[in-house]
Amino acid sequence: MTADHRTPHPPIQLQVDLGDRSYPITIGQSLLNSPELLARHVAGKRVAIVTNTVVGPLYLERVAGLLREAGMQVTTVVLPDGEEEKHWGNLMKIFDVLLAEKCDRKTTIVALGGGVIGDMAGFAAAAYMRGVPFVQVPTTLLSQVDSSVGGKTGINHPLGKNMIGAFYQPQAVIADTATLDTLPDRELSAGLAEVIKHGAIIDPAFFDWIEASIGLLMARDPVALAHAIQRSCEIKADVVRQDEREGGLRAILNFGHTFGHAIEAGMGYGEWLHGEAVGCGMVMAADLSHRLGFIDAATRERIAALVKAAGLPVTAPDLGAARWLELMEVDKKNEGGQIKFILLKPLGRSVIMPAPQDALLATIAACTARTA
Ligand code: NAD
Ligand code: GLY
Repeated sequence: MTADHRTPHPPIQLQVDLGDRSYPITIGQSLLNSPELLARHVAGKRVAIVTNTVVGPLYLERVAGLLREAGMQVTTVVLPDGEEEKHWGNLMKIFDVLLAEKCDRKTTIVALGGGVIGDMAGFAAAAYMRGVPFVQVPTTLLSQVDSSVGGKTGINHPLGKNMIGAFYQPQAVIADTATLDTLPDRELSAGLAEVIKHGAIIDPAFFDWIEASIGLLMARDPVALAHAIQRSCEIKADVVRQDEREGGLRAILNFGHTFGHAIEAGMGYGEWLHGEAVGCGMVMAADLSHRLGFIDAATRERIAALVKAAGLPVTAPDLGAARWLELMEVDKKNEGGQIKFILLKPLGRSVIMPAPQDALLATIAACTARTA
């Protein structure tokens, strides 16, 4: 695909097919200027918008205004910003406001923000009065290509990432790509990690396209970004359709995450961005895949080069081997005390399996030793 820089793109409509829990994903520029789009997905007359102190000043008034114009009663919850704020205390703050404002079970919760807000607001929607409708309005690249789709919601625990949560699907996902204009470069790179992930685990042609388009993507070319978001959502929706509650296949979406979650928890939430940890984790998973003979050295280097070109770290923090193992033992994929990894076999296909200890330790040593 080629793209003229800054060419606008028409809205793209996708569907997550999950029977009576199916929902549309709309991807387009300036969707938050459209008076009817959001209101269309709100069944009742009450809405609670959950956002944070960074996204709120940028987009809250616009979204609240649209809903008020459509005749809705709007409550707002503005949480502190950051991964380190994705915890029980802030979840309770959402419930505090919902209860104080007497929000009933027909209230729709709108998650306005990145993956942290989407995961927390989605979990609040799953639990408030045993479940109220919610709509995802993702405003980061990461949340537009990944976290807003598929219904995983939750919060972190000091002992493990995303350890408390629920599967709970939204009514709709509305991804306004114009919101990416205000996104810091570091956050754009974090989102590209999940785009690369989708190509690496499932679609080698998409991986080739990302390699060829990384310059356009880093320059925020809107057509290239729209294609990256569309293809990522198509891939994710297809995996979720087949395995909504991660009985098997869906675990491949965690490529790079076993290492990545260990980096996030080991460094302290918020130190490394989730996408940065996933990017570096994919380099480690590719290294492990190579050590087990599943991909050749050239493919491992291709993956590392693309992660680097996306502005992401390729060298992991030196946590010490024992701490690495301890952190990776707290992972939802693990069974019977065995750490499980998503490995490439070959690029574009993935397997889920435990790894021999010697290969794992060699990967940890190689990927943390390169610190320069
Ligand atoms: P985030 O939500 O922390 O957002 C990143 C930063 O960008 C924050 O400071 C945020 O306030 C700011 N921001 C958001 N939109 C902005 C905008 N338009 N302009 C300027 N600043 C903006 O992080 P994220 O990368 O979006 O999401 C990471 C989270 O998503 C992690 O907690 C991760 O575990 C979770 N996640 C969940 C799933 C899932 O399936 N549920 C999948 C992947 C990741
Ligand atoms: N990001 C992993 C999943 O949604 O399953």
